[in-house]
Amino acid sequence: MIPFVDLKHIHQPLLQAFQKVQDSCISQSDFVTGKMVSKFEEEFAAYCQTEYCIGVSSGTAALFLALKAIGIGQGDEVIVPSHTFVATAMAVSQCGATPIFTDVDADTWNISWQQIQPKISSNTKAIIAVHIYGNPVNMDDICTKAHQLNIVVIEDAAQAHGALYKNRKIGSLADMACFSFYPSKNLGALGEGGAVTTQNQQWAEKIYQLRDYGRSDKYKHEFVGYNLRLQGIQAGFLSVKLPYLDQWNEERRSTMHIYKNLLKDTTYQFQSIESECHSVYHLGVIQCENRQKTIERFTANEIGYGIHYPIPCHLQPAYLQNNSSSIPISENLANTAISLPLYVGMKENDIKKVCSVLQEI
Ligand SMILES: Cc1ncc(COP(=O)(O)O)c(C=O)c1O
Repeated sequence: MIPFVDLKHIHQPLLQAFQKVQDSCISQSDFVTGKMVSKFEEEFAAYCQTEYCIGVSSGTAALFLALKAIGIGQGDEVIVPSHTFVATAMAVSQCGATPIFTDVDADTWNISWQQIQPKISSNTKAIIAVHIYGNPVNMDDICTKAHQLNIVVIEDAAQAHGALYKNRKIGSLADMACFSFYPSKNLGALGEGGAVTTQNQQWAEKIYQLRDYGRSDKYKHEFVGYNLRLQGIQAGFLSVKLPYLDQWNEERRSTMHIYKNLLKDTTYQFQSIESECHSVYHLGVIQCENRQKTIERFTANEIGYGIHYPIPCHLQPAYLQNNSSSIPISENLANTAISLPLYVGMKENDIKKVCSVLQEI
């Protein structure tokens, strides 16, 4: 049996350190947005090369709060790729605004200005650029052109912790960036968690307050806010894991290198990584001609797999009424993509086994 993901390889060696975090949280009653959270916020801001990091309760909360901080609300439009996890769009809807779905590039599977431009209207207030599967978006082009139109650019970095674009860290490339620390992410908590990174002090301060009931003092509330705070214990676990992130990302890259090498003479298509982009391969996705057959052969050989994502956002029941036009590349990806087993600690023989089953097909 080859699992799709197996987190125990990274967690097993850290059990003692996790226990220390737990003991310290309990002995110091450091449960919510306390010392552990501030410590992790400082560490993650330094890692992302940004001034501010605000720990929040999930990646969806990070996106929601980033949008709220810039004042997104009813009547506003936010451009998002259709090929993403639905949380990117739902954060927009939760603000009362409308997600405007755009297609992605057929090779990089990321949005680019070419797809964004036709979707811009006088109501466009922001663009969310998703670094899908850890592959950085060409951010400079999008930021330059969007800023000329006074449109805010937010990175959805939920799948890209540690990725590089022109030698700069993901998280520092646009106006704000939103991370998820869902357990299976490249940097995952042992439960839910998220963060917003930014260089903008005003937005950072707004998000600190928005995540905590609009609080400016213990019982003083400047505006209606939310309870979307990061837990101390999760921040502590993240501080334990952060020093290993680059090493784990390297291992993911090596695994993908083997996959690409062994499958280079086949018809399977990998995501293109542009020369200035350094992907951290959150997922190892390929496009295949006959996905059903691939699924059957994987199942017969006890090989785990994922489908990311079987329904593009614009065709989700939650969004069907808003969008009638076709978004062909995202639709094609939804029908042809399959995610291969990929995790830290995966054995080379298992990678070869997956490839030999793919080659047989
Ligand atoms: C691209 C993307 N955006 C946003 C999210 C939402 O993150 P969370 O599950 O932590 O709310 C995810 C997580 O699955 C994601 O993959």
